Amino acid sequence: MLEKTTALILAAGQGTRMKSALPKVLHPIAGRPFLHFPVRAALEAGCGHVVVVVGHGREHVEAYLAEAFGAGGRVKTAVQREQRGTGDAARAGLTAVSPEAERVLIFNGDGALLRAEDVGAVARMLDEDPAAAVAMATCTTDDPFGYGRVLRDGLGQIVAIREHKDLANDEERAVKEWNPGIFAASVRFITEALAALTPNNAQGEYYLTDIVSFAARNGQRVVGVPSSPDVMEGVNDRAQLADLDRIMCDRILKKHRIAGVTIRDGARIEDAVVIERDATIESFAVLRGNTRIGAGARIDVGCVLTNATIDEGVELKPYSVVTQSHVRARAQIGPFSHLRPESDVGEEAHVGNFVETKKTTLARRAKANHLAYLGDGIVGEDANIGAGTIFCNYDGFSKQTTRIGKGAFIGSDSQLIAPVTIGDGAYVGTGTTVTKDVPADALAIGRAKQENKEGYASRLRTRLKAQKDDRAKKS
Ligand code: UD1
Ligand code: CA
Repeated sequence: MLEKTTALILAAGQGTRMKSALPKVLHPIAGRPFLHFPVRAALEAGCGHVVVVVGHGREHVEAYLAEAFGAGGRVKTAVQREQRGTGDAARAGLTAVSPEAERVLIFNGDGALLRAEDVGAVARMLDEDPAAAVAMATCTTDDPFGYGRVLRDGLGQIVAIREHKDLANDEERAVKEWNPGIFAASVRFITEALAALTPNNAQGEYYLTDIVSFAARNGQRVVGVPSSPDVMEGVNDRAQLADLDRIMCDRILKKHRIAGVTIRDGARIEDAVVIERDATIESFAVLRGNTRIGAGARIDVGCVLTNATIDEGVELKPYSVVTQSHVRARAQIGPFSHLRPESDVGEEAHVGNFVETKKTTLARRAKANHLAYLGDGIVGEDANIGAGTIFCNYDGFSKQTTRIGKGAFIGSDSQLIAPVTIGDGAYVGTGTTVTKDVPADALAIGRAKQENKEGYASRLRTRLKAQKDDRAKKS
């Protein structure tokens, strides 16, 4: 129903109070630059196109929008060269509205908590009340400090919005109804109204909000859409950024809980994460980026997952870190495992405490249960890698691969100097430094022969004690 409505999202402002080199709208909330959320709200509400008005840091903002929503799609940008107010920004946006569009829906790019229903309700009001020239969201709270106030006439009709800095008298200051900044109007009306703006106000800016008094002066009606103040807060500084991040993260946890995921308090899950039913996410687990968690998986206390794919039934024991890696069904990881990028752990495989993997594939049921570094490796099914094993993959210049065959056994404290291949079913004796390939079913053993000297220990102790006493006498 809103395909002929174009959303104009105002995001050209500098955001001075963020005190940041990063453009304000690119500061992250729940793992995404927060401009993502108002843009998504407009798309989900069904707006045919979205025009984001960019200015400050525009190359970065444009690059993000293209990456997140695709270039040449429903999301476009328009440039406001100089930040001369919200009305001027809307005017810049209007230049990018396609000729087929009949209406615009205008709102602020810092409204990170806005959902499709919040902006959609304002746009749809023009259908419910076709006589109205403008529909606008309004909120009512006891302390609308800083916001533009909604002024009504004796009949209750909205006649103007007075900016906080322009409040003229006590009567205006007492108004508790305020403007959260979401407007819908026809392209024709908005074109005329914006052309008539003047910067005669306390800030010397072109105020978008003056479209309301323009309508009233011309005998046109402005209809208010009572809205929830909870979702209207904008980001102005990093304290508000943190508040909105918390609210957004609570929203995300609730969404997953309602969908059948058990999540303990204190877990943090970013917006793009996907979780299937009956997974359990324990306290202080952090799930970031495009992480996916399969059905029934358990992510225990303190795990940190970034762009990780965790299949069904996997158990990630406490404090494991998984980055850009795949853990397949029913594998067991941790506690204290570190899976670095491009690791791929097979079904029912085990990776235990203080094991680090990087760009290493472990096939089904392979095990590395304790204290190992497995870099650039390919480990076959049912292979067992003992404690203290190191894949020596790097000579300071290039990386080489270690291959371990099916069912092979690598004894503890072995170093495998890559490139090297251990054949299927081969056995590497404890403490071996493997420099040559080991054929299938062979035993490789490469350690110094042990010698036992009977009764030697007590003689050694006597001699060492005498040496110590001698030194004490001399000093
Ligand atoms: C605006 C409203 C105020 C309302 C409040 C709600 C006006 C004049 N005032 O005030 O009534 O209560 O929002 O949050 O509209 N922007 C541009 N270009 C500019 C100026 C601003 O793109 O030249 C963008 C900003 O990036 C921001 C949005 O417009 O996303 C709002 O601007 P801001 O300066 O924060 O307006 P407020 O003073 O908060
Ligand atoms: Ca603001």
